[in-house]
This record gives sequence, C-alpha cells and structure tokens, in this order.
Amino acid sequence: MAKTKIAYFCQSCGYESPKWLGKCPSCQQWNTFVEEILEKSSASVPNWKSSPASSQRANKPVEVADITFKEEHRLLTPDKEFNRVLGGGIVAGSLVLIGGEPGIGKSTLMLQLALNMPNVKVLYVSGEESDHQIKMRAERLALDGSQKLKVKSQNPEENKGCYILTETSTQNIFKQIEELQPDILVIDSIQTLHSSHVESTPGSVSQVRECTAELLRFAKETSTPVFLIGHITKDGMIAGPKILEHMVDTVLQFEGDRHHVYRILRTIKNRFGSSSELGIYEMLGEGLREVSNPSEILLSQRDEPLSGITISATLEGMRPMLIETQALVSTSAYGTPQRTATGFDTKRMSMLLAVLEKRCGFRLGAKDVFLNITGGIRVEDPAIDLGLAAAIISSHEDIPIPTKTCFAGEIGLSGEIRAVNRIEQRIAEAQKLGFEQIFISKYNMPTAAKDKNRLDLSRYTIDVKVVGRIEEVFGLLFG
Ligand code: TYD
Ligand code: MG
Repeated sequence: MAKTKIAYFCQSCGYESPKWLGKCPSCQQWNTFVEEILEKSSASVPNWKSSPASSQRANKPVEVADITFKEEHRLLTPDKEFNRVLGGGIVAGSLVLIGGEPGIGKSTLMLQLALNMPNVKVLYVSGEESDHQIKMRAERLALDGSQKLKVKSQNPEENKGCYILTETSTQNIFKQIEELQPDILVIDSIQTLHSSHVESTPGSVSQVRECTAELLRFAKETSTPVFLIGHITKDGMIAGPKILEHMVDTVLQFEGDRHHVYRILRTIKNRFGSSSELGIYEMLGEGLREVSNPSEILLSQRDEPLSGITISATLEGMRPMLIETQALVSTSAYGTPQRTATGFDTKRMSMLLAVLEKRCGFRLGAKDVFLNITGGIRVEDPAIDLGLAAAIISSHEDIPIPTKTCFAGEIGLSGEIRAVNRIEQRIAEAQKLGFEQIFISKYNMPTAAKDKNRLDLSRYTIDVKVVGRIEEVFGLLFG
C-alpha cells in the first residue's frame, strides 16, 4: 500500500508546511494550520491529459517585437454589464472566479447567462443543487418570456445550449467534458469539487488548489473559458487559499445587501481589462435584470427637500453615477456617541467629523452620527466627501439642501476641497439628470500654467459652483 503523505496548510493563505505551526510564517495569522492528507499514488488516476508534450517542450526567449499578436477573440454575452466587468466579453481560455456571500445570487447570475446564450454550448456543473432544483430555477428565469428553454433538436450540431451536470469529482467532470465538448464551463462551486489526486475533504486548501490547477490546465490547453463560483467566508475573503486569486485570470465579486434588490458585480482583478469596472443588477422575482442607468434608480423620488440628504456625483469604474447620501445627527443619549456608516468607511467618516469640528466650528463631539448610502451599495470614491459633509451639516442645522444640487469633491484635512478625477463626466451626468447646480473644487479648474483644454465651464448649462474651502460651501448653501 502506498504511504499517505501528510502536510499542514494555512487555511488563510495556503502556505504549506511539513509540520504543524502555531503562526503562519507567510501571512502571520495564528492557529490557521490544518492537517491535510496529500496524495495517493499520482500515476494511477488520469488527470486532465497530464500532457507530456507541454512539459517536454522548452520555450526559448523571444524578443517582444517578434511575438506575433493575435487579436484576442472575445465572446460577447447578451448581458452588457457582464461584458463590461470582464473588460469587453469573455476571453478564450480564461479562468474567472466569481465570489460572493451565500444567497447573493451567484448561481442565478451564471445560470441566467448560460440560458441566455443559445448559440454557445455551456456546461453548468453543480455540486450544490440537484438537477431538479436547477431546472426549477431555470423555469423561473425563463418566466418573463424573453428566454425560452430550448427544446432538444434531432441534429446534434444544433444542440447548443445549456447542459447541467451534477457531479463533484473532477475526473468524472473531465470525462463528460471530453464527450460533450462544451464552449464554456461553469463550476458551481469550486469548494464542492474534489480531485482523486488529493485525499483531503472537498473545500480544504489542498483540494481547492488541486481542482483549480486542473481546471486551469484544462482552460489553457483547450482555450475554453471556465467560470468558478467561490464562496466567501464571514470576513469577506474568498474561502480557500488566497492563492486561488493568484491562479485565476479574473476575480469578480458579487455583492450587495441581501435586503435590497440591487447587486453589484465588481472586478477585483482582471488580466484582460480594467480592474475598476462595475456592473449593476436588480434581483427580481424572475432573475437578475441589468441596470443600465444606475443614477435614475439610486436617487429616490422626492419632491420636497429634506434635511440631511444630498446627492453626490461619484464614479465607479469608468461610469459616472449619482447617488444619494443621507446623514442623521442627533444628540447622544448616552455617554459615548454612536458613529455608524453604511456603505462608507467609518474611519473616513470620523475624519470628516473632525474636519467639520476643527475647521468650521460645528460641535459634533457629543452627537450621534449615522451615515447611509442608499441602495445598499458601497462607495470608495473620495469625491463623495463633500456631499457627505454637506449632509451632516444639513442634518445638524436641520436646514434642507435644495433638491437640484449635487456635489463632487474630496475633503482634505485642513478643510480644503481637493480635485477629483474625470470631473467633466461627473458634471455632464448631473446635467443630464436635470440638476441645477454642482459644487466642485477650484483645483479642478485649469490654471494658466497648466494645460488650458482641461475644463471649459461654458460648455455646460448647469450652474457649476467652484469652491476652495469647505466654509465657502456652507456659506453658499446656508447663508
Ligand atoms: P442564488 O443564486 O442561489 O445565490 P448563491 O448561489 O449566491 O448562493 O440566489 C439565491 C437568492 O436569490 C434567493 O434568496 C432567492 C433569490 N432569487 C430571486 O429573488 N429571484 C430569482 O429569480 C431567483 C432564481 C432567486
Ligand atoms: Mg449557489
């Protein structure tokens, strides 16, 4: 009998050690090492064509100029948001990881995509749900009538469409793949797969790593795009080792507040495009719907101005987006005032409060402050600072800000309004949505020394208020 080989893996970063360690030398986490049984005899089980050809062929260095460049062929899906986050469609042979909390809609997103591509043969491998459950979901997704579940045709050539396989062993999956020859492979989820090359349980570091490596080899050798669905642990990491993120070409994160209908698909890493793209969906009874104009839905419809509400012109990826920010400032009933921010960094909120206290003399130290970004989305764009500061003061003073006003500026520690990127796009978006005035930083304006073609305010009909310091903003707003 072959001797079993044992190794210890850090569950947080995937570091491998022959003996147990208390602290991981790689990621410095404590108590993360778990014993995993490594391999059986590796020769007996077929791998994804453990191709001898590729291992024997030695590559030679080539000068960059001599490398012939083929125009990358990208497969466009009917889902424009998905194409956008991938950087313009699916790249042949790419390995894409889609992470997200349980129940956020990862399976729905991928199944919907698979069903919507009638001319592409998609194999959807599910290790989590039975084929009945998937069929039920598919019927539900086809309810709106735009997509019909395909009826099987006699001609095998025409039988493109979506195939479901409930299987968790990679060896069996590869066997089916050789028979079916799919154009796209979807794995739901990587944590349920197991390879017979590794003994440990599905979801363990060594299993996840081995299965991903096999799928990676398959993707690269056959030029088939592979999508992996991955779970996220409580602290927001993609479960399994960090190396999973290093192995794949693209990491997408599907996020949102489960109590809201909006979902955001965010690019975390992309070898084939920008990593700051974003797709927005709405979760409806019959599946996910693309939201092509996010500003209009993220702004709540209201007629009369209320205090504590402002609109900020933010930019997510390349896309301008107007979002509503709300603040509530009230006298604290207990000793320590509460500070809560939803969709915004709490440390940054403390910084804004300190600037308002120190530079503008508002006494916020003994107040409870709550901030909220509507729609359940998370914003990292610093241009939202000015809108938030205005919302805080508006709530504090209980003076509403005119409804047709919006903001785009970062606040510095000394109370100066700093320039933000792509200001033209932000102003244009505000104007398009019928806003009457927008506050921007004076540092966004061209100066004589710098190039003159930067920002030409005469192009806009919206009233652009150029401000340099936060006190000026409050002077203009509250008199
Ligand atoms: P699911 O795709 O199973 O999530 P994940 O794979 O990320 O765990 O989505 C589950 C949630 O989505 C579930 O709570 C129900 C909801 N849902 C809808 O609102 N509409 C739909 O059409 C479908 C299929 C699911
Ligand atoms: Mg699922």
